[in-house]
Amino acid sequence: MANEQQATWGGRFSEEPAELMLKFSESVSFDARLALYDLRVNRAHSAMLCRMGILSAAERDAIHAGLDRLEERIGEGDVTWDIRYEDVHMNLEQVLTREVPEAAKLHTARSRNDQIATDMRLYFKDACREIGEKLTGLLGVIVELAEREREVLVPGYTHLQRAQPVSVAHHFLAYAEMFERDRRRFAAVADAANACPLGSGALAGSTLPLDREFVAEQLGFVDADGKARLTRNSMDAISDRDLFLDFAQACAVCGVHFSRVAEDMILWSSAEFGFVDLPDAFCTGSSLMPQKKNPDAMELLRGKAGRLQGNVQALFTMVKGLPLTYNRDLQEDKPPVFDSGDQTALCLEVLARTLAGTKVRAAACRKAVSDPLLLVTDVVDYLVLKKVPFREAHHLAGKLVRLSEEENVPVNQLPFKKVQVLHEAFEEDWTDVFDLERAMQKRAAVGMPGTKPVGDEIERWKARLGIAG
Ligand code: ARG
Repeated sequence: MANEQQATWGGRFSEEPAELMLKFSESVSFDARLALYDLRVNRAHSAMLCRMGILSAAERDAIHAGLDRLEERIGEGDVTWDIRYEDVHMNLEQVLTREVPEAAKLHTARSRNDQIATDMRLYFKDACREIGEKLTGLLGVIVELAEREREVLVPGYTHLQRAQPVSVAHHFLAYAEMFERDRRRFAAVADAANACPLGSGALAGSTLPLDREFVAEQLGFVDADGKARLTRNSMDAISDRDLFLDFAQACAVCGVHFSRVAEDMILWSSAEFGFVDLPDAFCTGSSLMPQKKNPDAMELLRGKAGRLQGNVQALFTMVKGLPLTYNRDLQEDKPPVFDSGDQTALCLEVLARTLAGTKVRAAACRKAVSDPLLLVTDVVDYLVLKKVPFREAHHLAGKLVRLSEEENVPVNQLPFKKVQVLHEAFEEDWTDVFDLERAMQKRAAVGMPGTKPVGDEIERWKARLGIAG
């Protein structure tokens, strides 16, 4: 094809691009997944060109029929993407023009710059909805697990040292709070994506008469009243990559969340804790050690969270310092974003399925939470209620712990004689604080792990998620 002109911009060139350059600069290998969005954009754009008298009705209809056939062919896997046409936009235009000569007018008054910005906004809206649905599914699993295990208590940890008792339900509902924030974050990204850049052209719009509102409405870039939402500055519209950053960041934050859940489950399923039994279907065995059951799904979640953070870093570094407006660097924005979206959706599904099959080992939890040291803080509260200043009460309870270690007696079994001499505020009833049930009833305010507030939270979540019963 030595003298053949390069299909998109060959007019001013005397030499064909090098094979190596084609390979280097193509993006169709990763942007072909935008094909259906690009077809929608093509439909809306050609309909608008017809409204404005730039295309005849016959030309528009021929183009629309061609786009429909092309969509079918793509569905059947009948379109081969060609790196000579660089990206999804030019591939589609070439295939279409071969069948429908009228399509040579399709690229009137637009650029791949506003086209890709529009395609990607459509992608972000869909991806945020899909991830939002996965988050909702995961929340349902978490709330059901919390409800099922609402009676089971475990030690809560700080510094990975036993701290104070909590319910398994309270622990799992902490995850629900994290994923609910993620849900909101993705909804905010979807909302920010909801403005149409078409009409921005390469960077400075067009001299041709365009109806931007019409295109926006056709593509669903509308507010709650159905009114078109448009980007307001052509230069920003085609060079802005904030959505890419916001989306990838939302994925990375979500990754931090599922990674922390995964880490808890890895610890909890170890023989040392033994609080949960993870489903076999999401664990693997060892090629050598027959007894092993490894929490690989959870470990992969932890690992993939790092990958999601890496994608954010790649995007920030790429955009930083770029002069306005479009620069080809920006083509590199898609692989990290698609990877983040795909992996986040996959991870959320894996986590939901794993948690749905997770069994809580009540006996092991009961044994761990029976450690009376978990309630030594309650002894401090007992003394405070008897008007002992907090700091002094803290020291007194600390002395009890030391005494229990010296005497090798559980703290709640220290003889009253030895306790009494520490402070007159100690009365015979001092060991009542070690009654776990009572202790959990006392943690009664909103947000606390007590029986009542946790029950209320379960009901609140069920109502919010529309879970019956
Ligand atoms: N494939 C390109 C990208 O994703 C589309 C925009 C190309 N624009 C250009 N001026 N070369 O960035």
